[in-house]
This record gives sequence, C-alpha cells and structure tokens, in this order.
Amino acid sequence: MKPRYPIFRLKTKSKIIQKYIIDLIQSGHYVEVETIPSTRDLAKKFRCSRLTVLNSMRELVREGWLESNERKRYRVSKDVPLLFVDSSQKQILGNHTLKLSSFKPRSPEPEQVRCGFEFNAGNPDLRLFPMEDFRRAVGAGLKKTFAANLTYGEPNGIKAFREQYQEHLLKSRGIAKRELLITNGSQEAVFLLTRMLCQPGDTVVMEELGYPPIRDIFQSMGVKIKYVTLDSEGLSVLEIAEYVKKHRIKAVYLTPLHQYPTTVALSFQRRQILSSLALKNHFAIIEDDFDYDFHYTKIPPPSISTQCANSFYVCSMSKSLFPGLRLGAIATHPNFSDELSFLKRTLNRQTNSLAQIAVASWMRNDTFLVHLRRMRRIYQERYYFLIEALQRWKDSLNIEFNTPNGGLCVWVDTRRDADEISRELLKRNIKISAESEFRFHGHRSTHLRFGFSSLNLSELKEVLPRVENAIRKAKY
Ligand SMILES: Cc1ncc(COP(=O)(O)O)c(C=O)c1O
Repeated sequence: MKPRYPIFRLKTKSKIIQKYIIDLIQSGHYVEVETIPSTRDLAKKFRCSRLTVLNSMRELVREGWLESNERKRYRVSKDVPLLFVDSSQKQILGNHTLKLSSFKPRSPEPEQVRCGFEFNAGNPDLRLFPMEDFRRAVGAGLKKTFAANLTYGEPNGIKAFREQYQEHLLKSRGIAKRELLITNGSQEAVFLLTRMLCQPGDTVVMEELGYPPIRDIFQSMGVKIKYVTLDSEGLSVLEIAEYVKKHRIKAVYLTPLHQYPTTVALSFQRRQILSSLALKNHFAIIEDDFDYDFHYTKIPPPSISTQCANSFYVCSMSKSLFPGLRLGAIATHPNFSDELSFLKRTLNRQTNSLAQIAVASWMRNDTFLVHLRRMRRIYQERYYFLIEALQRWKDSLNIEFNTPNGGLCVWVDTRRDADEISRELLKRNIKISAESEFRFHGHRSTHLRFGFSSLNLSELKEVLPRVENAIRKAKY
C-alpha cells in the first residue's frame, strides 16, 4: 500500500506518537536502522499504555508508513519513497553530464532591489489599484461562469474576453478587422510571432536602445539581430531601407508609440515608409504598443497595424491593470490566426481562463473605464510635476529631455556619466535606470530614464532634489 501522508491534528496521544514516528522517518533516521523502537519503549517514552502505542502503530501500517513482520516488530515500509524519507537534504546530487544550448549574452535578471524611491520601468502604481471594484467584478464573473469555461478551451482565448478586449482596442487604438489571440502578456506574444516567422539564422531588426527581454527571445531562438539606430523621429527607417537592399530580414520589432526606453514617437512619415518597406520586402512588423492607455497632451498617432497588413499588433494589460495578471494579445491579420493558435496550443494550450473571465467581467462594468481614466489623470499630474522640475534644472544643470505625449517615463540626457549617477543614487535608496541598461553595445551612457508612475507627488517632491544634487555632483 502506498503511504497517504495525512496531515495530523495533534489531538490525542496516539496522534502525537504517529507524528513522532513520521518525523523520524522523514528525517531519515530509520532509513538504515529500519526497525522502529519497541512498543514497550514507546509506551514508556510517551507515558501511555501499550494499547495506545499499538493503536498508533496499526494506524501507521494502515497508512503505509510501517509494516510488521511475524515477530510483530515494526519496520519502515519499503513503499516509503527514499526521496521522501531523505528530506534532511542528505542526498548527494552528483555532477550531471548535460550540455545546454543556452545563448550568450543574455540580459541580466532584472534586479529586484526594493528602494525607498523607485523610478521604475514604467510599472503601474499598484497602491492605487481599485482592489474592491476588481474583486466585485471578479466575483460577479465567476458567479455567472459556465463549467464549459473551466475545461480546456480555445487556444486563442475565451470568447467573452476577446470580444471585450477587441472593443477596447477598437475604441482606444482603432484596431479593427483583425483577430485576437490572447497571450500571457506581450512577452509570450512576441515569442509566438518569432516562432511563426523565423528559423534559426534568420535576421530581425530591433531598436538600439531597446527592450532587453525581447532581445532574449530572438537570441534564445538563434535568430540574428540587426540593431537600428534612433533619432528624434524614432527608428531610422532609412537604415532599414538600405539594409534590406542587400539582406533579407524576417521582421522589425519596434515600440513606435513611446519608444522603449527613449519615449520618442515614430513620426507619421516613417510609419508609412516602414509599412511600404514591409510589404515590398515581405517582412513583418511587430508593433509593441505596451502603454497606449496613457497619453496626456495629444491624441496618440494611429497604430501602424491600422495601415499595414504585414503588421502584428501586440498589446498588454501589464501597464493599465497589473503585470502579474499576465494578459496580453496579438491582433493579427485573419490569415495568420490558425497558425498562431496552433503555436499557442503547442506552447501552453491556452491562457489562464480565470484571469480572462475576471477581466471580461470587469470590462463589462463602468468601473473599468473609471479606473483607466483615473490613472491617466494621476499619471498626467505626476508627468507635469516632473516636467516642471526638469524645466527648472534645464539651464542650471545643463540637461536635455524630451516631452513625450504620453507614457510613464521621461528620458533625460544628463550629459554626465549616468551610470555613476545611478550608482550614487542607489546608495541613497533611490533606484533610477541608466542608459547602459538598454544598450546592447558598449557606449558612453549619459541618459537616465525617469519612470515616474510609481511615485506620488509628495514622494516626487521629496526625491527630486536628491536626484538633482546627484546629477550636479556627477562627472561630465
Ligand atoms: C517595451 C515593453 N513591452 C511590453 C511590456 C509588457 O510586457 P508583458 O506584457 O509581458 O508584461 C513592457 C513592460 O515593461 C515593455 O516595457
């Protein structure tokens, strides 16, 4: 009989004895000795009758921990797995003989330094997440859900959620006539697209400076990367035009709305040139529209995917709701929908149904839009507060910065050693990312990325003078 490893409530002497013996077995005490102390000794130790001990032993035999022989001596059952028995970490693992096909260089694991003040990558201020509204909507969604939603479902996502998300994307970004595949965030979306579009040895273009986790996807699949430079109008499409004259590329991955990390928006003209280059040269555009919900000054420029059939629109709820939700999507030309569904099914069958049911239910409710509008207003206040401070520093510190129409970060050229500033601030419990974190090739790093979304006005008021001070003291 296999052991059932029950959880004991220490109510009776018999249970105490059972727990004592199981603990000894699990600590490896009896692996070699095997024989358990006699019932007489146990009765003495626990100051109880032998009958109580015998009852405990019978129970342990019934559960598969012990077995008894003809002479009624109890020993550890042969069915207790060695691994389980040896939970005392006495095992020696030994050296393995495997060789992995891992790739280098790879981006370092993002540091989880928890600082007093964090200018982070543009993560939402989760302190303001309306947990009560969300909980209510989740509860309502789950109450109404059918058993059919709880089994394996369509790889491209639950219909109710796809419909809600599609409507949201139509209203906010004009995305229409495309099919939606729900993914575990945009990271998985780009992974699936790369799988579909590229073979090892193929080339894709990405921005430098850029988003390291996406570079890791390309490298992990043996895809070569052509890095293309940026200027005040965004990605240099001329450089791409020159490159494709001689080389074949499979895709261009870019963040055209608020470029990551520089925040610059790709100009209207360049969007058009890139679209026609893609159609003419048969490459795909992977448009990562990661923070489209937050724009402050103007209506954001239209997405490339509204103009170009070769473009895949990738979006995520990590900024508008929360990153742990792991919900994102690809809006694709219908012709690629089957292939993407197949790849999604191969990778992980489908995205978590409960998360989709919950958010679909919330999106049906007004409080979802109320949350987005509220967060946009709050981030806008923080944005203007930061811009005003930077304006004041502009001449006194001789810095430069752009004023993006939206997003959750401002990119500042300190004209000094940004790594030194970042290191100095870290010593004072302030986290701010320097340019070198987003560069794939060595270069002098002078920029800092002010991700302002997670700092409220009084925190900004407190921390900005310290940052100003650190910039002032840094070397040119
Ligand atoms: C450029 C970029 N794309 C996408 C995302 C969101 O990724 P995910 O949806 O996988 O959480 C982020 C988050 O920081 C990002 O910076």
